[in-house]
Amino acid sequence: MLKLNNIKKRQRSSIFGKYNYFLPEIDSTNEYAKRLALGGAPEGTVVLTDFQKEGKGRLNHRWESSKDVNILMSLILRPRLNIDQVLRLTLASAVIIIKALKKSVQHASTESVDFTVKWPNDIMANGKKIGGVLLESSLREKEVLFVVIGIGLNINQDVSILNEDIRKSATSLYAETGLTFERELIIANILNFFERDYFKMERTNYSGVIREWKNYCTHLGKEIKIESHAGEVKAIFLDINQKGILIYRTESGEEKELITGSVKHIGTGHGVND
Ligand code: BTN
Repeated sequence: MLKLNNIKKRQRSSIFGKYNYFLPEIDSTNEYAKRLALGGAPEGTVVLTDFQKEGKGRLNHRWESSKDVNILMSLILRPRLNIDQVLRLTLASAVIIIKALKKSVQHASTESVDFTVKWPNDIMANGKKIGGVLLESSLREKEVLFVVIGIGLNINQDVSILNEDIRKSATSLYAETGLTFERELIIANILNFFERDYFKMERTNYSGVIREWKNYCTHLGKEIKIESHAGEVKAIFLDINQKGILIYRTESGEEKELITGSVKHIGTGHGVND
């Protein structure tokens, strides 16, 4: 079971994690966080659990996770951004989580793991998905009232017990290193990096986030397959813009924007950044 005291001991943040809620079992930490936010919970409030009965992933997928072994958390943000800028938080969160994971792996002084991002917010370890971010926002007209950032990370998950389909594309820190990690330490690292980078980003330095995100992205400039409500298309991943939207070129040479959907890297390609 997660121990809040062990998170607190390692927290250097004062806003992120000032209020930490832990529920041994819950429907979804995002749902709980939304209820708290509606009741006025402040920015930086954290919801943690050891098991979700109805964990939610992006694009209406379910998020499955074994009990007691992974990180399932949600953060409440009250950003001074407008609706158009909210997608930035997704990319920023992915970058922050990678920094926290890298630090945690270094701390375990094991072989390094290659952490990368896949648009918009999949966290990859040695090419397989280790986690993801689900951002949900509450809006009043153009105003952002609050944002909930849901973070799911496979930490000590034994992937051999997962069904074959998931096993092909998913991994955990344990599967990549053979080590068991203290989840509280990783959570504290996430909160510490959020406190440092989120406020910087919110006020001034978003282009820094885009730069860092691109550094962690392996499929920029490459051939990708895009899956969206419009179906599947092959394309070249050209860039992401300042809003965090993916810009791609179709096979017929048109340039388009992808706001919601997912991508698969399918080739070494011949894109603009090669
Ligand atoms: C994805 O589809 O990649 C995003 C997955 C996000 C899962 C996390 S687990 C904690 C939080 N609560 C949820 O119900 N979902 C997010």
